[in-house]
Amino acid sequence: MSQQAPSSVDSAPDPSSHSTLRTSGKNLELSHVNVDTRIVHGGVHKDEWTTDPLKRSVVNPPVYHASTVTFPNVKALRFASSDWPFTGMWYGRHGNPTTFALEEAFSAIEGADNACLTSSGVAAVNAALLAFVQSGDHVLITDAVYDPTRSFCDVFLKRFGVGTTYFSPVASCDEVRELIRPNTKLILVESPASLSFEVMDVPTIAQVAHEHNLKVLIDNTWGPTLLSPFENGCDVSINAATKYIGGHSDLMMGIVAAKDRETYRAIKNSVVQLGCPPGSDDAYLALRGLRTLGVRLRQHEQSALRIAKWLENRLEVKRVMHPGLPSHPQHELFKRQFKGSSGLFGFQLIEGFSQDALDSMLDGMKLHAMGFSWGGFESLLMQNNINSYRTVQKWKYGDGYGQTMRIHVGLEDVDDLIKDLDEGFDRLNRLNKT
Ligand SMILES: Cc1ncc(COP(=O)(O)O)c(C=O)c1O
Repeated sequence: MSQQAPSSVDSAPDPSSHSTLRTSGKNLELSHVNVDTRIVHGGVHKDEWTTDPLKRSVVNPPVYHASTVTFPNVKALRFASSDWPFTGMWYGRHGNPTTFALEEAFSAIEGADNACLTSSGVAAVNAALLAFVQSGDHVLITDAVYDPTRSFCDVFLKRFGVGTTYFSPVASCDEVRELIRPNTKLILVESPASLSFEVMDVPTIAQVAHEHNLKVLIDNTWGPTLLSPFENGCDVSINAATKYIGGHSDLMMGIVAAKDRETYRAIKNSVVQLGCPPGSDDAYLALRGLRTLGVRLRQHEQSALRIAKWLENRLEVKRVMHPGLPSHPQHELFKRQFKGSSGLFGFQLIEGFSQDALDSMLDGMKLHAMGFSWGGFESLLMQNNINSYRTVQKWKYGDGYGQTMRIHVGLEDVDDLIKDLDEGFDRLNRLNKT
């Protein structure tokens, strides 16, 4: 059967059509509305999602399942090759209207030039790092970084001749400056740390980095929308969409957003070369999750603050590591950078509880499950060992301090969650005495 080229493609291709050509987060009418509105309206192109002659449309993008992309004529193919891979659809791995919609929505939220999806948060971090380094280079990374990022640097990047130096998450900007070498290419920050919850002075570190022409990358997974990466001096914002953006514990995805066009092009090339896109079904789910991010995060914040304050008054608890609490050592710094807090924080027990007693507390929880993730609608509670991954400055467990725990406060009723924790502390005390 012969293929008739649509007349619109016979003429010059429309560069504003759904594709990586669209400058997604900037210079749009959405840059003038507040973040909750951007969350709802970002990346919406109903006219592109309908085949209806009267342009009636669905609200969400169709899920485009694609490997092969076909070109209606040679002219369209030549156009697609002209600035590859920045001319929109090419082949399934390089994106389709479903993935473009999420990239554009996220860029609108963060005020990014554009963004790239990856198949996991880890893939997003790795693709972002690999966009800016080559053999012989050096990178600076917070000592409190997510553990798989540390192993990627220590094992994988090292094999290819890229060195890593870690710095304390509470290092001063002078201490960070002293670690910069002539071959240093970037600084990766993560704030707050996802086990120990130290807050970093991101704008000051970014200023130091830029004085030396380094890129600043942030793993901003703890609270998408709570810290604006580009307003705080970052060049690249990485988010494990697996967590709050998906929000329902049913998908794996990463998003890397870039401050400007040149940075975006480096990242897109890296993602394309690594070949790690998400599937379209997951992109659809993540976009669906994203639309309710604002209200979900506010509820996580409110419930988590209530539980954090309740924990502060428990005799079994020595300290609560929640940057939104005035008792947190970097609370003032936190308030300067963040618009709010998420549902993830830590706490440390007083000294003296046996491991058996703590195991019994955890085993008996009815509403708090044990699991390595967070950001879903459900509550999680896990014991952790902050120092197992630290090499620069050990977490001070301190005299009179016991085991550390991490809690993700979900969307259940807070009184029910508190009751579950209260009963857990009863088990902890009971077994400790026997
Ligand atoms: C702070 C942080 N960054 C990145 C990731 C990686 O995300 P993913 O599990 O989607 O690979 C995680 C996962 O736990 C994380 O906690």
